Amino acid sequence: MKKSEYIWLDGDLVEWDKATVSVMTHTLHYGTGVFEGMRARETAQGTSIQFLNDHVDRLYRSAEAYNLEIPFNKNVITNAIKEIVKVNKLKSAYIRPLVFLGDGEMGLLPLDIPVRVAIAAWEWGAYLGDEAASKGVNVCISEWQRISPKSFKPFAKGVGGYMNSTLAKIDAVKQGFDDAIMLSDKGTVAEGSGQNIFICKDNKLFTPPVETGALGGITRKTVFEIAKYLGLEIEEKDLTSEDLLASDEIFFTGTATEVVGIVSIDKVNIGDGSVGPITSSIRNKYLEIVNGKEDNFKNYITLI
Ligand SMILES: Cc1ncc(COP(=O)(O)O)c(C=O)c1O
Repeated sequence: MKKSEYIWLDGDLVEWDKATVSVMTHTLHYGTGVFEGMRARETAQGTSIQFLNDHVDRLYRSAEAYNLEIPFNKNVITNAIKEIVKVNKLKSAYIRPLVFLGDGEMGLLPLDIPVRVAIAAWEWGAYLGDEAASKGVNVCISEWQRISPKSFKPFAKGVGGYMNSTLAKIDAVKQGFDDAIMLSDKGTVAEGSGQNIFICKDNKLFTPPVETGALGGITRKTVFEIAKYLGLEIEEKDLTSEDLLASDEIFFTGTATEVVGIVSIDKVNIGDGSVGPITSSIRNKYLEIVNGKEDNFKNYITLI
């Protein structure tokens, strides 16, 4: 990780190495926090944050879902996100707002513990590697099931839930794959370890509904809008592993991942084993939007 100079912590700018917490921090023991993953990019107009309001709204929704009352209003957090990119003089950045419980009490009824907020930003390139865009990624179907809506609130980006994602990711990488596809508690496709998933069959796009436990991704939502803009049919639908293997194209979406083609699953090629034309056209449109080059989607980026 390439450290920046400052982290925003509870309203103050603190030097990166001094932004520390007690080992008795509640979230460290029980995973009781929520977070966001966002990106800023250098556009022709200047450094801009993509989908800023969507991410801030989801942060508050996630916090509410897990009984965390953020002690700052949305305006303060929105400005802090912009400030942390600016003050670190970052032209492009990954931004990580984290809402967590501090120290005070232990136990599973953390109602009197201070809710704290950290916002970090640093330079971070392509999550699945530089070659993922052109060559696509090779994935497996994980033995680990995606967290069930009966046990967690998968629509929220809850810290503890990501132990499930790391199990799938580590397992996949240990077996030589780039990432994993996770199935739901019903055995249908849910999503990747940290990405949503789409398939393309006969020029039509499908993605699993969020009821499978998939996160309501902001990139996922954008792909719906891009598909409509490009005149492609798109539908939420339960998908099986067999549907995946019978697809013409498959791709992952996410803020860190962007839009990346999946070219094989468990070593079986998807289509002809290369990134397909629909994946490429969606990826290209996505990049135009987040880089401020698509006038019809200009309101999705915020100049800092
Ligand atoms: C589990 C999971 N699914 C999907 C996504 C994609 O969501 P977004 O497009 O909002 O980044 C992410 C990334 O945040 C994730 O962690």
